[in-house]
Amino acid sequence: MCGIVAYIGPKEAYPILVKGLHRLEYRGYDSAGIALLNNKLVVHKTKGKVCELENYVKDKNTTGTIGIAHTRWATHGEPNVQNAHPHYSQTKKLAIIHNGIIENYNTLKSELINRGCHFESETDTEVLVNLIEDIQVNEHVELEEAVRIALNQVIGAYSIVILSSEYPDMLIAARKGSPLVIGIGKDDFFLASDATPIVEYTKNVVYLDDEEIAILKRNSVFKIKTIKNKEKTPYVQELEWNLNELEKGGYEHFMLKEIYEQPRSITDSFRGRLNAIKGIVSLGGIIDYEQKLLYAERIIIVACGTSWHAGLVGEYLLEEIARISVEVEYASEFRYRDPVINEKDVVIAISQSGETADTLAAIDLAKEKGATVLGICNVVGSSIARATDAGSYTHAGPEIGVASTKAFTAQVTLLTLLALRLAQLKGTLPKSRFMQILHELEMIPKKVEIALNDNGVVEKIAREFQNARNFLYLGRGFNFPVALEGALKLKEISYIHAEGYPAAEMKHGPIALIDKDMPVVFIAPNKGIYDKVVSNIQEVKSRNGRIIAIVTQGDETVKNMADYIIEIPETEELLVPLLATIPLQKLAYHIAVLRGCNVDQPRNLAKSVTVE
Ligand code: AGP
Repeated sequence: MCGIVAYIGPKEAYPILVKGLHRLEYRGYDSAGIALLNNKLVVHKTKGKVCELENYVKDKNTTGTIGIAHTRWATHGEPNVQNAHPHYSQTKKLAIIHNGIIENYNTLKSELINRGCHFESETDTEVLVNLIEDIQVNEHVELEEAVRIALNQVIGAYSIVILSSEYPDMLIAARKGSPLVIGIGKDDFFLASDATPIVEYTKNVVYLDDEEIAILKRNSVFKIKTIKNKEKTPYVQELEWNLNELEKGGYEHFMLKEIYEQPRSITDSFRGRLNAIKGIVSLGGIIDYEQKLLYAERIIIVACGTSWHAGLVGEYLLEEIARISVEVEYASEFRYRDPVINEKDVVIAISQSGETADTLAAIDLAKEKGATVLGICNVVGSSIARATDAGSYTHAGPEIGVASTKAFTAQVTLLTLLALRLAQLKGTLPKSRFMQILHELEMIPKKVEIALNDNGVVEKIAREFQNARNFLYLGRGFNFPVALEGALKLKEISYIHAEGYPAAEMKHGPIALIDKDMPVVFIAPNKGIYDKVVSNIQEVKSRNGRIIAIVTQGDETVKNMADYIIEIPETEELLVPLLATIPLQKLAYHIAVLRGCNVDQPRNLAKSVTVE
């Protein structure tokens, strides 16, 4: 969602800010803007993409060594120039950029209007900047103090950066419930919603905590304090990311690059955590919580979207091999339905971005009810990683494509490690079986590589079905969540309606949809209840549905029934999701490209959904 970039230092700010905005484009947005200070505080904003902002400022003065910039994903007010950020205060001495939502903005706005304030936009953000100015002027306090007082009056979520023409050598930033990272350069500071705009300048970062205010000055001086006025010692961390992880590296799209990165990202997810020869599985981040997990009355997995699908695979894994009862909940439902939950439960929150608002709210609720809360996140230092009692990072590397690919397989890898570790501790698997799965898991990256090299089969199928209006994805057992994930990938990037279903449930409704125009994707590896899936395929075939089947290499039965087959290597049943997902990601990708869709930034979608 919205993206923040800011700079203060000796260099020209504009190129740094614009490059930063481009880096944040993947988060999703509908307008962009920039404020620069060079004697005068100037704001430039446009509707649409960052390149439109660049065009707009071509003949304008963009000099200045301090500035703030923003990409906005509309929440309050339609996406237009007035509502785009930065927002000036009434006197035009202050400019602000803001991510999040000020929930009591209407009350604050009425009070400010009564005091003579005029508003140009419909946004909550313009209310905040005017509140700060009002306090600064009427309470005769420094800007820093005015920001602090104002933040004590607002209810809601924010990460903000403020630039003032009266303080040309200072930026003020603050956060609550919306991420903000400070990059500490040699003689400059960078601020951003995530580390992507920062990593090429410095690897030293401070993740601002909730209700903290940072005051950054030109002479490399910075301090952090809370909105209750308590000084904090900044904790400087080193970024793990490399610049080349943020570039397309010769691929046409980030999504394609990320699909092809999976042999590496899966390896990184189990690096240092799995030793198949010695029979060791360990997840350092949650080692202190192993007993809690073992004796948990229930494990409740909360997540959204693709991460929720990974959670479903986790449920099958944990129940089957560790014999622990698991429930998987949409975080958005869990947070509002007063769930029965207590201190004997362990909640596992799964999130790529670590910023999903609903997942964060579910964590808060679980904590309130006394449950232990663990996190599985990809983004280091993210809000969810910090809100949980402990957790493990997936180490998939930055995922830029809005459609999650490598993060999903990394989440599934991590859940597999967790299930194996708990099974080992509980003794629910015979040693030989345990060792067998470990060995097979270690082989998965090689097998993913094989699945990726399909000799153009998936592309050919994509060409055949690019104009389909609907798709049905069917799978059973471990492959039911894979069917859901395949359908989600297709709909989010190609805008084709697709549904995932447990294959046997088809006859309770969706079978009515089947005719010669309905492509049905079956995930049909030769494992588990294969015969039953074969019967389901037969049911579709006899109604003239067009069958695309993901099968194990060498399968002859399904080959003789399906219109198209896509082969994946043989593996353990419980590891099939890691392989079967690959061709489904590729199918969605190729169909979207053929339909001319914006694969990396699909319409209406944001990479991290920081509003509910
Ligand atoms: C996946 O392709 C999506 N774009 C989306 O469903 C995503 O998985 C969901 O918003 C959850 O995000 P998170 O993993 O960052 O919490």
